[in-house]
Amino acid sequence: MTPKTIIEPFKIKVVEPIRFTTRDEREKLLKDAGYNPFMLRADDVLIDLLTDSGTSAMSAKQWAGIMEGDESYAGSKSFYRFEAAVNKITHMKHIIPTHQGRAAEKILFSIVGGPGKYFPNNTHFDTTRANIEFTRAEANDLLVEIGKHPEKRADFKGNMDVEKLEAFIKEKGAENIPLCMLTVTNNSGGGQPVSMQNIREVKEVCNKYNIPLFLDACRFAENAYFIKMREPGYKDKSVLEIAQEMFSYADGATMSAKKDALVNIGGFLAMNDEELAMKCRNLLIVTEGFPTYGGLAGRDLEAVAQGLEEVVDEHYLQYRIRSVEYLGNKLVDAGVPIIEPPGGHAIYIDAKRFLPDIPPEQYPGQSIVCELYLEGGVRGVEIGSVMFGKYDENGKLIPAMMELVRLAIPRRVYTQSHVDYLVEVIIEVFKNRDKLKGYKITYEAPMLRHFTARFEPVN
Ligand code: F0G
Repeated sequence: MTPKTIIEPFKIKVVEPIRFTTRDEREKLLKDAGYNPFMLRADDVLIDLLTDSGTSAMSAKQWAGIMEGDESYAGSKSFYRFEAAVNKITHMKHIIPTHQGRAAEKILFSIVGGPGKYFPNNTHFDTTRANIEFTRAEANDLLVEIGKHPEKRADFKGNMDVEKLEAFIKEKGAENIPLCMLTVTNNSGGGQPVSMQNIREVKEVCNKYNIPLFLDACRFAENAYFIKMREPGYKDKSVLEIAQEMFSYADGATMSAKKDALVNIGGFLAMNDEELAMKCRNLLIVTEGFPTYGGLAGRDLEAVAQGLEEVVDEHYLQYRIRSVEYLGNKLVDAGVPIIEPPGGHAIYIDAKRFLPDIPPEQYPGQSIVCELYLEGGVRGVEIGSVMFGKYDENGKLIPAMMELVRLAIPRRVYTQSHVDYLVEVIIEVFKNRDKLKGYKITYEAPMLRHFTARFEPVN
């Protein structure tokens, strides 16, 4: 038979209890957290969808790798296993471990960034943008038009607009663009994949102007699986082969291993350019550690190496992508507006359509995030004007392009009954949406304000 039910492709060996709270308790906890779920204690959360980053459940083999980790300061056995595992997928010449993705970004952009430089991407993730802007360079998003319309379905809404890229290069001058990036999948744009054709076309434009192409490769395996499912010519290729082809068009990559390497900490920087790699290693020694451990323990490198083998397993990816889609489809059937089609690692609720009467100045996404916690102990994150809003010279909010709430699904952590519970909670909040209030910010930090901002409901 061909089974219709796609089961979790694992058995559970270790369990971690989750703590139930009452609505009254949550009212108080949320108020004390300044209505910012980032400030809640994780123990006060029932289902935690704040991020899919570093929250994966590791396999028995990864935990065995933790015991096998070689903690030699230089040239550890675990480094060579890690290097081989990354090389198998990326075929890059230089592989530099870092403690997470943003450490790779910090090193890369400290070297290639600076005033007067421009970095195009389909959509920069917030830490990538921050690391670029920190050097006083500009981070530019050149997403295809359809990627900006949450309600429209398309297979590859994470693609870069290739024509815009070429026009951008002509306008800014190729000499001012040290590299071009593609984020796979496009996290800030809804976890939407980038097609192989788009990667190829972006590479052609980059080649024409002699600009290196880097992948922000956090979710490369999920992207590769979407290519297998959706792009003509790829259904009979293995996910590993597809990933290898994706990386074959790139000159380098930054990676947060906390996503598709199925670990709780880790990352790397990979590239082919010898001179750039030397500069990166020199800076790595100052900020992260010796080039064969780069801010990680030997055991962490073992876990990454094993995770990279497991993540390209197609039973795993089928379950992964299907469980996110299952959640998305149930919400769509109930009329809840989300970015369609569902992304690889998360569901993004479209707060503008969910709460059309709450203006961006009152942060509709934050309102939904708060209510999901109050209703069901579920923690999500606002990805809208709290995260990306800026102020003009008169202090008036320049809203983000979209007002979203991200519900990111940790890898291998929750089962289908958790997802069914989530569906119930979200639909209940949707039914009562007329009662939701807007929020105002009472404290904010100058950069990356969403992490620590405090709010109050608007009456
Ligand atoms: N690039 C992308 C596309 C990301 O999603 C992230 C992290 C990073 C870079 C930075 O990696 O956290 O290891 O330093 N995203 C997490 C998230 C935090 O919740 O989406 P990091």
